[in-house]
Amino acid sequence: MRNLLSMEHLSNEEVMQIIERAAQFEDGEMTRLEKSYNVANLFFEPSTRTKTSFEMAERKVGCTVIPFDADFSSALKGETMYDTVKTLEMIGMDAVVIRAKEDEYYNELLEGINVAVINAGDGAGQHPSQSLLDLYTIHKEFSSFEGLKVTIVGDISHSRVAKSNATALKRLGVNVRFLCPPEWAGDFEAYHSWDGLIEDSDVIMLLRIQHERHVINKSFSKESYHEQYGLTFELEAKMKKNAIIMHPAPVNRDVEIVSELVECERSRIFDQVRNGVFVRMAILETLLEGRSI
Ligand code: CP
Repeated sequence: MRNLLSMEHLSNEEVMQIIERAAQFEDGEMTRLEKSYNVANLFFEPSTRTKTSFEMAERKVGCTVIPFDADFSSALKGETMYDTVKTLEMIGMDAVVIRAKEDEYYNELLEGINVAVINAGDGAGQHPSQSLLDLYTIHKEFSSFEGLKVTIVGDISHSRVAKSNATALKRLGVNVRFLCPPEWAGDFEAYHSWDGLIEDSDVIMLLRIQHERHVINKSFSKESYHEQYGLTFELEAKMKKNAIIMHPAPVNRDVEIVSELVECERSRIFDQVRNGVFVRMAILETLLEGRSI
């Protein structure tokens, strides 16, 4: 693996290798990296957990984190993504972690760039490190994927998490169902009511409503969304005994989920954040070690 761009590019074997390595990191194993690689995090869209989690993972595996502030970079003077990354390569970077608002921004980096590129989210495209930490969280809970039922709920068409997870989970043998308002289904066949979905789901995966990617819709009401698609106490009470609740976060409390359920017993929302550090350590080690051979 030379870059991490999309879950479409990862085999089940590569996914399982990352999961197994992340579990070793969680158990306290140290990294195998022999040198201190230089890594920069280029976030052209806001982030709390992905950016901080990558920085924590980079430090834990012994990388040197080179500060990059997108808001004060020459991208604001019109420099292209290619020229930005090539410049960082010439300065001595070994890897760059990038979040950008353009879908598939990474296509312009496939030729001529020799550093590892890790996609930390491209527009409404893919979010592979989030997907891998979601898969790690599910595997930690159920020890396998085959035959699980996962219901992904919410803003499907604007969600890079939904797309990355749908690709990976289906390939791993999971029965993936989608629940959303008709206008947010995109290319997916979706249900528009919870009927029959809550009782047999092993995982309810809620998604954030991505207002920043919507054309202004004056008829949208948080209250009516919550009433039809939000996870309420009543729905939670119908979940299977061992079923879990996930959400990539940030959460719109009392919209996607009742605020009090965010940290309920079956919620793994903050565990996902913790798991993300181990998974990103595994991603960094796999990419940097793979390139150094
Ligand atoms: N889940 C996720 O990508 O969160 P951030 O936008 O805070 O990084």
